[in-house]
Amino acid sequence: MLIIDDLTRRFGPEAAVDRVSLAVPAGQVVGVIGPTGAGKSTLLRLINRLIDPSAGRILCDEVDVAKLNGRALRAWRSECAMIAAQFTLVGQLSATTNVLAGLLAVMPQWRSKAQIFTPRERGLALQALARVGMDHAARQPVAVLSQAGQRRVAIARALAQRPKLLLADDPLVGLDRPQATGVMAALRGINRQDGMTVICALSDPDVAMAACDRIIGMRDGRIVFDGAAATLGRKQLCNIYGGVAVDSLHLSEKLDLVSAA
Ligand SMILES: Nc1ncnc2c1ncn2[C@@H]1O[C@H](COP(=O)(O)OP(=O)(O)OP(=O)(O)O)[C@@H](O)[C@H]1O
Ligand SMILES: [Mg+2]
Repeated sequence: MLIIDDLTRRFGPEAAVDRVSLAVPAGQVVGVIGPTGAGKSTLLRLINRLIDPSAGRILCDEVDVAKLNGRALRAWRSECAMIAAQFTLVGQLSATTNVLAGLLAVMPQWRSKAQIFTPRERGLALQALARVGMDHAARQPVAVLSQAGQRRVAIARALAQRPKLLLADDPLVGLDRPQATGVMAALRGINRQDGMTVICALSDPDVAMAACDRIIGMRDGRIVFDGAAATLGRKQLCNIYGGVAVDSLHLSEKLDLVSAA
């Protein structure tokens, strides 16, 4: 269970995340939605301690993550893998080598510096690629893969870390709807098999509703909606995005059915 308790992060006088509280049971798939600047990325970055909170607590299985430092902090970062918005894959290296980079955080320093991998580690990397349907591309440089293929490799790299918690910041940016749905289906499949908790910041509420158990709607750093995807209707979306913005979101007919219910 991940518990976020009254969490705030200020940049100057402005709070990017403003007194956020939520509890995420292990194994849940949570979609964080909201307009640009709502605080979605900041919330994810706080959870894996890429940035420090100004106030509040982050508890994972009763450990106060906000207070960790040194080795314990590094261990936490490898337990909650982050797939960032700007994918940090290295284009000229093969998919396998990129996935192996996910192991660097959890291997002895002398080996990570020399980038020496054991056959077992190479096997784990191939397994991770297979789980996202990319084993056929193991030897190809990442730069020649499609956008969607690159996202899948980024997920495989996170999986190689064997995290408890997978954080994905805008993992679908630049993908069309079928590609986005495919990448989310791969994440969902992993969640079902491993029971890994997944928290994704998503810019398309329609995809979020289809793929997530629970939706957190943020606006101006605060949570303005927290509920099952099936209970998110037009009224709630207007509250999150504002009325005019909702009309430009091209939401599916399903949403109208939900809001009419
Ligand atoms: N390092 C920083 N320094 C100063 N302000 C920041 C920093 N990071 C984020 N902010 C501010 O915090 C607020 C929330 O930003 P954040 O990136 O979390 O929003 P977001 O919901 O992820 O937006 P987007 O949908 O565009 O990715 C914004 O007003 C942003 O300008
Ligand atoms: Mg963001």
